[in-house]
Amino acid sequence: MRTIAVVNQKGGCGKTTTVVNLAGCLAADGARVLVVDLDPQAHATLGLGCDPEAVDESLYEVLADTCGAESIDRVIVQTESGVDLAPSGIVLSALEQRLASEPAETRTARLANALAGLGRPYEYVLIDCPPNVGLLTFNALRAAGELIVPLETSFYAIHGVQKLLETIGLLAERIGHAVQVRILPTLYDGRTRYARETLAEIRALFGDLCFDTVVRANVKLREAARRGLPVGRYAAQSNGASDYASLAVELAVSPPVTAAEVSEPASAPERQIEVSFRDGGANDVRIAGDFNGWVPDKGVRTRMDADGEQRVWTKILALAPGRYQYRYVVDGEWREDPENPEAVPGPAGVRNSVLVVR
Ligand SMILES: Nc1ncnc2c1ncn2[C@@H]1O[C@H](COP(=O)(O)OP(=O)(O)OP(=O)(O)O)[C@@H](O)[C@H]1O
Ligand SMILES: [Mg+2]
Repeated sequence: MRTIAVVNQKGGCGKTTTVVNLAGCLAADGARVLVVDLDPQAHATLGLGCDPEAVDESLYEVLADTCGAESIDRVIVQTESGVDLAPSGIVLSALEQRLASEPAETRTARLANALAGLGRPYEYVLIDCPPNVGLLTFNALRAAGELIVPLETSFYAIHGVQKLLETIGLLAERIGHAVQVRILPTLYDGRTRYARETLAEIRALFGDLCFDTVVRANVKLREAARRGLPVGRYAAQSNGASDYASLAVELAVSPPVTAAEVSEPASAPERQIEVSFRDGGANDVRIAGDFNGWVPDKGVRTRMDADGEQRVWTKILALAPGRYQYRYVVDGEWREDPENPEAVPGPAGVRNSVLVVR
């Protein structure tokens, strides 16, 4: 069972749209899918055609434990598109207060425990989070093995997400629970230069944490939500349907890194090495070298700062002691590091920069 939380404290970036439509695509491909609607606004519940006012018991009853610990099965309803749903309701907003006196350790593990008690097998559990990092989102972070962070292709969206990634990192450290985070660019309008530049920045910042799929702005997604259907059932030929189908495929072919792989010790202790590239005109700067199989930005974290007119891309590499060759990939063009005098001849006459880690 893959448990995937869709999370971002920023409102309106496409969390619910992603949960409902990804679930719809996975279910249409024959997978057993459960959507857990953790948002008191109940938009995923509505988006799957279920009236939150009409449900007898919602996730609140499960998480507040008013109907027995193993009860999540009891609140699950089947929806028209073949996706199962643990519905939300406005009462979920009272959970934080209700559990206020409980220690954080158990209060934040409620959803994880409820999912551990699931009686039916699911291949995917998708959790829709509210637009804040409160108790409900913490429950989602603890329950999930993977996170999808939808990112609207706008400048301000990028700023907030750095903070979110820090929070996730801190939480993962505290509970010793590795989660795989992936970024999904959403609401993309490729006709505007601004959106194209922002997408390039997102890719530069997050490298291979970013899905290849980009969800374009598409009015059919809004209409489908109003009809209470995944877009594949409402407008199968639309861009929205095609983008979420592509996301479903990408997710299915890239299973998460297992805990064993994550905890495998490196043969020699690694050090964090920072190298920087400054250029006011570049839109996309990546790094490739023998440390990442020459795949641009694979396994690399990027920080972007501004130094006057110049943008500075700082690449953070985790490297064991040794000697490495690398190049920058600047807007698709391979270049040596202009600030590093040490270089050796590489293929096709371009020089490779050299980095020595002691
Ligand atoms: N790719 C898209 N194209 C067009 N409209 C979209 C797209 N993605 C989302 N929307 C619309 O934008 C609005 C916000 O999207 P959505 O509800 O998925 O965001 P959210 O992150 O879940 O918001 P909240 O934080 O309030 O829960 C909705 O009206 C939705 O239909
Ligand atoms: Mg939402």
